[in-house]
Amino acid sequence: MGELRGALEAAPQGAIGLVPTMGALHEGHLALVAAARANSRVVVLSIFVNPLQFGPGEDYDGYPRAEHRDLELANQTGVDVVFHPGMSEIYHSDLSDMVTVSAGPLGTVLEGASRPGHFDGVLTVVAKLFNLVRPDGAWFGQKDAQQLALVKRMVTDLRFPVDIHACPTVRAPDGLAISSRNALLSSEQRGRAAVLHRALLAGCAALDRGSEAGEAGDVMAGIVASEPGVELDYARVVDPVTFGAPQHGGPALLVGAVRIGATRLIDNLQWPALEPGDV
Ligand code: PAF
Repeated sequence: MGELRGALEAAPQGAIGLVPTMGALHEGHLALVAAARANSRVVVLSIFVNPLQFGPGEDYDGYPRAEHRDLELANQTGVDVVFHPGMSEIYHSDLSDMVTVSAGPLGTVLEGASRPGHFDGVLTVVAKLFNLVRPDGAWFGQKDAQQLALVKRMVTDLRFPVDIHACPTVRAPDGLAISSRNALLSSEQRGRAAVLHRALLAGCAALDRGSEAGEAGDVMAGIVASEPGVELDYARVVDPVTFGAPQHGGPALLVGAVRIGATRLIDNLQWPALEPGDV
């Protein structure tokens, strides 16, 4: 920890940009680093697979880890400081016996309903990272839209002096959102995984035609159901801020989660479609 503070001590005020990650870096992370690089004098990349955001039976043990490659990529992309804390630097007591951040009601719907406690775990570790690194800005991907919304809420509600920046989802040529968990898919599963993006696009097209949110949700569910081996968790149209029911004709977020074998994938699209450069 002293090492981290030492490295950041000389940083001028307003200079530190943080990209929090769980490692297994991919193009999505590198886009966050590039955005942080363009806006900060000192870029800190944190790598910590956070046990508190994984529920019982989830893939904490199997979560992809690629330490050496991550360090190489961080080096190549101009990260100034890699903060790779050990477990005891983040959690000094038993995980079940400590003060944590509560994500509140927004943390209990959609991803929060499928993964109880997940967002409390995410916000707790993000709060710790903010306190340890003391960044002026932090960069998060739009792919994890509910996480991004909750981090923004935490910063507002708990008065963290950190500007939160969002970066667009990076996609493979077939539309699959780039995610560390894609590495867990077999090649056959990988071939099926883009159905989630196709479903979200079809949901957007339904809204373009004037469909109600519920109808667009049914369209998305139908497309996922037509792909063998892909199990729908949810496909919904929600308000982009509250994640509740959207205003008719107003801006909306189409969100979906599927399971392919043991791997759970999420994705979302904003509606109306964004102009290039918007997030
Ligand atoms: O998005 C992630 O990789 C994680 O949820 C985060 C924000 C690094 C917290 O562990």
